[in-house]
Amino acid sequence: MRPIPATTMKKPISTAWVGALTMTTLLLGCGHLPPPAAAPAVAGGPAIEAAFTIQGAGTTALARVLTRASTCPGIAWDGAAPIPMAERVAPASMAARLAEGRPVEFPVRVCEAPWPLTARTASVEGVPLPAPARAIQRITIVADTGCRTPSQNCNDPAQWPFARIAQQAAATHPDLVIHIGDIHYRERPCPDGNAGCANSPWGYGYDVWQADFFQPARPLLASAPWVFVRGNHESCFRAGQGWQRFMDLQPWSTQRSCDDPRWDSVGDFSAPYAVPLGPQAQLVVFDSSKAAGKALEPSDQAYVKYAAQLAQVTHLAAQVRTSFFLSHHPVMGFVASRTGEVVNAGNPALQSVMALTQPQRLFAPGIDVALHGHVHLFESLSFSTPHPATLILGNSGSDNSWDRSMPTTLPPGTAPYPGAVVDDFATTSEYGFATLDREDASDASRWLLTEYDVNGTPTIRCHIAHGKSRCTPVRP
Ligand SMILES: [Fe+2]
Repeated sequence: MRPIPATTMKKPISTAWVGALTMTTLLLGCGHLPPPAAAPAVAGGPAIEAAFTIQGAGTTALARVLTRASTCPGIAWDGAAPIPMAERVAPASMAARLAEGRPVEFPVRVCEAPWPLTARTASVEGVPLPAPARAIQRITIVADTGCRTPSQNCNDPAQWPFARIAQQAAATHPDLVIHIGDIHYRERPCPDGNAGCANSPWGYGYDVWQADFFQPARPLLASAPWVFVRGNHESCFRAGQGWQRFMDLQPWSTQRSCDDPRWDSVGDFSAPYAVPLGPQAQLVVFDSSKAAGKALEPSDQAYVKYAAQLAQVTHLAAQVRTSFFLSHHPVMGFVASRTGEVVNAGNPALQSVMALTQPQRLFAPGIDVALHGHVHLFESLSFSTPHPATLILGNSGSDNSWDRSMPTTLPPGTAPYPGAVVDDFATTSEYGFATLDREDASDASRWLLTEYDVNGTPTIRCHIAHGKSRCTPVRP
């Protein structure tokens, strides 16, 4: 097999609607960091820390607010008198799950309210919340965004560019934003004598969530509703407590909270759901946060849970023409080893369960495109075999030296899964983000993926149609 040419740009020179809703819901400090300010994160009420919209299954959406006030605020729909929001979960302080950990402090109250189907605007104490779009034309995508300490200096935008990326991504004026997981990174204390991460918050409390996400993401949170895809960093063993408080769609409960390891078998898994993008196109969101780095045995509880959830995915994907499968862990993909060899980055646990019903293609019929994070670079893979086009978009801020740049050409015969033949490949290890634009109102399978650098300059464009992608570099 001849080498496959790659569209590659390396760092710094290296490189890479709501219409017919037929689908149903089945249902690791950094530099000279001052402690994150407790000052209000958004204009408006002094107690409001964050106010955003989470896109849920089908046409559902949630307004969610983090406040330091003693009660939940009111939310004004379409300029009407404010209606009190419901408390999702109260502030709490608890011991760390790990003996060596820092106590977990959540000093903010989380409040929420479902968006009425007819509401076009909402505001909380003068802070506007983005409304669900009636027509999804542009989706903006980030993944793997937090600051990995101590290898990144979180105060240096060149080292940790997520705030810059969020600003540029907001400037694309999306109808929907997707985060494909790994939001929280600062898990461990700064080593003694490391000036680069002195004073950084660490652990699993709100201060890290504020520093890694809510503060830098502010303009992007204000730009459109979000779909949050859970990463391994948000599993119960790691930052799951914050995930369940701030991002999860299901009601907060003791069983789902991740506060007590005895309930992790509940809190680590979430039912897949579909988000319509218009007639015959949808996102299918899958929680792979607990997917291990080895194949699962049928006796493993994760195997049983994932098998049942993948059956739900199959049902969802059968409802429309084109489905985008979103999981943090790549099902197929590549990374470069320390010696420069191209090795597979597909998740063995997911593969082992997906192969149960789809031994060749892995994915259910109707899934045309797979979107992932986890690997800290951009990759686009398209196949001459029936496998779905695959995009890995994990380059939005977290240390991209964690994963080495991919070579410009895949070695002959390189396959991310037995029987999968790659016929188009593009990559960049430059930091950035992506947009996904509907290309043809009459063909739900046609989308344009644009990869941008931290300055918002396009670097790679990929035309996607009928489950295939063709990428070209935008600049030399
Ligand atoms: Fe990850």
